[in-house]
Amino acid sequence: MANQVYEAARTVMAVREYQDREVPEAVLRRVVEAAHLTASASNAQPWHFILVRERQALRKLGSLIRTGGHAARAAAAVIVAYEKSSGAFGVSDCSRAIQSMVITAWGDGVGSNWAGWVGMENVRREFGLPDSYDVLAVVPLGYPKRKVIGKKRRKPIGEVVSAERFGTPFA
Ligand SMILES: Cc1cc2nc3c(=O)[nH]c(=O)nc-3n(C[C@H](O)[C@H](O)[C@H](O)COP(=O)(O)O)c2cc1C
Repeated sequence: MANQVYEAARTVMAVREYQDREVPEAVLRRVVEAAHLTASASNAQPWHFILVRERQALRKLGSLIRTGGHAARAAAAVIVAYEKSSGAFGVSDCSRAIQSMVITAWGDGVGSNWAGWVGMENVRREFGLPDSYDVLAVVPLGYPKRKVIGKKRRKPIGEVVSAERFGTPFA
């Protein structure tokens, strides 16, 4: 029985090379709505998302994120920030929102990726976020430059999943 959600989880990959082609507004809107609709601890929603589409700003993002130079060539990117006061909950909540965006984008044929990690102070300042926020990551978005094969490099499932108790083989 087909399960589209599982298919997305099975095939989605980090995409860092993009076609020089715009992503329609309706798709970008769906992506940020997916973030907005994500669950958070105590429904606190301690986050803020900035959708960046201007080429100059995307180039700036690419230059500010050491591990995210590809943002410069994306069609758009979402900056994901959480209220510092939310601490570990904010990181968890935003991580889940990122996954919502990545999977939603993938459902529309748009590739994306998680770029960066907490404490991207330069990104926070450049994009006008108050210092009560910490930037967790940036999610560049764009149509994949080449066909994504979807072959994941993962540890064997039996190594990371147990049945009932740690160490009892699952598969
Ligand atoms: C928490 C997290 C942080 C990541 N940070 C970066 C990053 O800064 N730059 C980058 O290019 N990819 C980053 N990635 C993408 C991973 O490197 C990638 O998903 C992983 O190697 C598996 O590849 P796949 O998603 O194509 O299967 C990050 C992924 C996660 C989940």
